[in-house]
Amino acid sequence: MQANLSTPHAKVAAELKIVPPSKLVIEKVSKEFTRDGKKFTVLDDINLHIEEGEFVCLVGPSGCGKSTLLNLIAGLDSPTSGVIYTNGNPVYAPGRDRMMMFQEHALFPWLDVLGNVMFGLKLKPNLNDAERREVAKYYIYLVGLERFTHSAIHELSGGMRQRVALARSLAPNPNVLLMDEPFGALDALTRENLYRDLQKIWQQRKKTIVFVTHNIREAVCLGDRVLLFSPNPGKIQEEFKIDLPRLRDINNSNLSEVSSVITAALKQHLDAKGVAE
Ligand SMILES: Nc1ncnc2c1ncn2[C@@H]1O[C@H](COP(=O)(O)OP(=O)(O)O)[C@@H](O)[C@H]1O
Ligand SMILES: [Mg+2]
Repeated sequence: MQANLSTPHAKVAAELKIVPPSKLVIEKVSKEFTRDGKKFTVLDDINLHIEEGEFVCLVGPSGCGKSTLLNLIAGLDSPTSGVIYTNGNPVYAPGRDRMMMFQEHALFPWLDVLGNVMFGLKLKPNLNDAERREVAKYYIYLVGLERFTHSAIHELSGGMRQRVALARSLAPNPNVLLMDEPFGALDALTRENLYRDLQKIWQQRKKTIVFVTHNIREAVCLGDRVLLFSPNPGKIQEEFKIDLPRLRDINNSNLSEVSSVITAALKQHLDAKGVAE
């Protein structure tokens, strides 16, 4: 179908087109911070290739540098050494091709659901307000919140807020979605619905996703690959390819088996490093 970009509808349709997901390459990346005047290494020689459209989960205990690595991919901070590439281009700064979603919903309480999702589209100079509204409405529909388009944020449950946050990160149509423990504060049933819907959205919108969690079952439920981190300094210890069929249900017994194997591996790595969990 040939889109006629002179009509508003065609502009919205072009904006909603599925964009090719990015390949990510993390090459010899280390990150040091300074605490009490002393340098310490948070990430040590991280090397990682993430394929276009791959769903990768990073798992490890608190403090092993998972959020730091996501921030580096997002371009919110820069590595002490090494380079990160998206589709072959070095990352120097944040960009709309890489959107981040956090555990704390970080929504604007003075805007309704539509306003929050539209916010991420503010910097799209090619769209007028009516077109931004149409784009935002599509993503609100995608995350299942159509009926709450005009609700205030304080009227929503924790799960619904995270759906708004997801819609807001999807709205600029990034090639990569970075998710930092996005469901960590939610109850188990709410999370189960989100696992199912996130898998569907990932399949439908074809994003590359890097998802941070300390919940191994969650990682196995969502990821094509699960990478185990250990701390002091943060390093990738082992990786597991997850071949279970989708859509995956976190209560599936095969999934439990895979999770047990990975949990045992993580414990071994932590024991070897003398980290008590
Ligand atoms: N901006 C910063 N300045 C100094 N230390 C930091 C900074 N950001 C993170 N850290 C430290 O780096 C380590 C790893 O943090 P983080 O990446 O948040 O771990 P995780 O997400 O795996 O829990 C922690 O010890 C944390 O205190
Ligand atoms: Mg973190």
